[in-house]
Amino acid sequence: MRVSRRPHAGSMNAVRLGGSLPLLVALGLGCSGSGASGSGSGGNGGSLTSGGGPSASGASGGGLSASGSTGASAGKGGVGVNVGGGGTSGVGNGGSTAGGGVSGGAVSVTGGNSAAGGQNASGGRSGTGGTVGTGGSAGAAGGAGGAGGMASNPSGPPMGWASWNSFAAKINSTVIKTQADALVSSGLQAAGYQYVNIDEGWWQGTRDGSGNITIDATEWPGGMQAIADYIHSLGLKAGIYTDAGRDGCGYYYPTGRPAAPGSGSEGHYEQDFLQFSKWGFDFVKVDWCGGSKEGIDAKTAYQAISNAIKKATEQTGRPLVLSVCNWGDQSPWNWAPSLSTMWRTSQDIIYYGSAPEMSRVLTNFDSAQHAAAQSPGHFNDPDMLIVGMSGFTAAQNRSHMALWAISGAPLLAGNKLDSMSSDTKSVLTNSEVIAIDQDLLGKQGVRVADDAGRQVYSRQLSGTGRRAVLLLNRTASAATITARFADLGLGATASVRNVWTATDLGAKTTSYAASVPANDSLLLLVTEGASP
Ligand code: GAL
Repeated sequence: MRVSRRPHAGSMNAVRLGGSLPLLVALGLGCSGSGASGSGSGGNGGSLTSGGGPSASGASGGGLSASGSTGASAGKGGVGVNVGGGGTSGVGNGGSTAGGGVSGGAVSVTGGNSAAGGQNASGGRSGTGGTVGTGGSAGAAGGAGGAGGMASNPSGPPMGWASWNSFAAKINSTVIKTQADALVSSGLQAAGYQYVNIDEGWWQGTRDGSGNITIDATEWPGGMQAIADYIHSLGLKAGIYTDAGRDGCGYYYPTGRPAAPGSGSEGHYEQDFLQFSKWGFDFVKVDWCGGSKEGIDAKTAYQAISNAIKKATEQTGRPLVLSVCNWGDQSPWNWAPSLSTMWRTSQDIIYYGSAPEMSRVLTNFDSAQHAAAQSPGHFNDPDMLIVGMSGFTAAQNRSHMALWAISGAPLLAGNKLDSMSSDTKSVLTNSEVIAIDQDLLGKQGVRVADDAGRQVYSRQLSGTGRRAVLLLNRTASAATITARFADLGLGATASVRNVWTATDLGAKTTSYAASVPANDSLLLLVTEGASP
């Protein structure tokens, strides 16, 4: 069993080159909109607009997308982004899949507060109504809702699913297709998850006489292009994996297959990344086993990889998000932001066969604290999620997700999507938590208070005076933790909302204190002023 192949701290950086193909994004700000547009044919989401100020798109966001529903060929809806304008925010959007009456437009929704100030999940939900074909009325409700967007922000941290945590190297076309299908049918796609990332195990390091990668056609009928095509046919994006070094990790656990040499891209950077792009991949995670073994300079290697990717994209026209995975070695936060979308900052969050552990989640969270390195399109990566993996409680799942959201970390689910519980699904798809993660400012939350393990993290969100706040109790006893508004950079009065329960707790003066169970957390949205 592979446990400690790397004695040193490892980290993986996943990077996403800017410009991943955005789904249509309908972003409504504030305007409550009458949502008159209930009927109609599959609405396409509007174009992404940011910035504050009420706009018509509040109305059209909800309304439009919801309306897509009845159409047999409902158009692709946009994916909402919560841009938040100080509590009046936003909305939007439509479903991310076309067709068939299932999707229709609106998948959307949530979270934002309507112009009228009321919480408005219902707007979004109504968008979802559109999904099932209620058409007109759904549209109307959607407009009224102007709810916060539920899905991913084109320059936000990548969201999707990756094969490693649950399957290790035991993957093939069937495994990936099953999980891709489940990503759609479970509602994760509608919530903004879009990448299906094939991690180690797809290739045994074989090449033909010209150095081109050769594929086992039994495991991957039609080769890797076929699986990328399949993923795309679901309206999703496809990710693949290699190593910056010559040999790669070669851990084919749990297949029993011996480690194969040559499963890295060193010596073939331009050839391999062009190949990935030609096959249709949109994302590539580049590991560091070979690089580490050879003792090469990480910045130099990943810069060459980034250059090869740029060259490939020039040829194919297909952007390829780069996820740097060198486990925090050689301090990637100092150089990876300029050449990648995300960079791992620590060792693996779980090793195959082990039970999920909260201590690893916390260690990876701590190791990813490099706020200065983060900006829209460039993210510290504490690793793929273990939410929903066997052994974690609902509270642990929530805390893990909240830690990633307050960090603005990539959300790459690692559980088996085809068999997850409804509780896991609700944690992964919570639209307000996702909106925090995907916030347009792209900032990382920072620790603003620490009283012997009773900690407060604050993340500045877009809009005015908005903060995501995590009260984190790292002690073994329940404790009262206080978020002082001055520590959050806010004035004396602020409105507090419990994010997981979607409950407004009212306006508070100078601070908010709550009891947090042992080893648990409370995720809040704090908005300056007396109303949210
Ligand atoms: C590690 C990496 C993991 C996974 C694994 C495959 O280096 O951190 O996320 O990709 O390799 O062997």
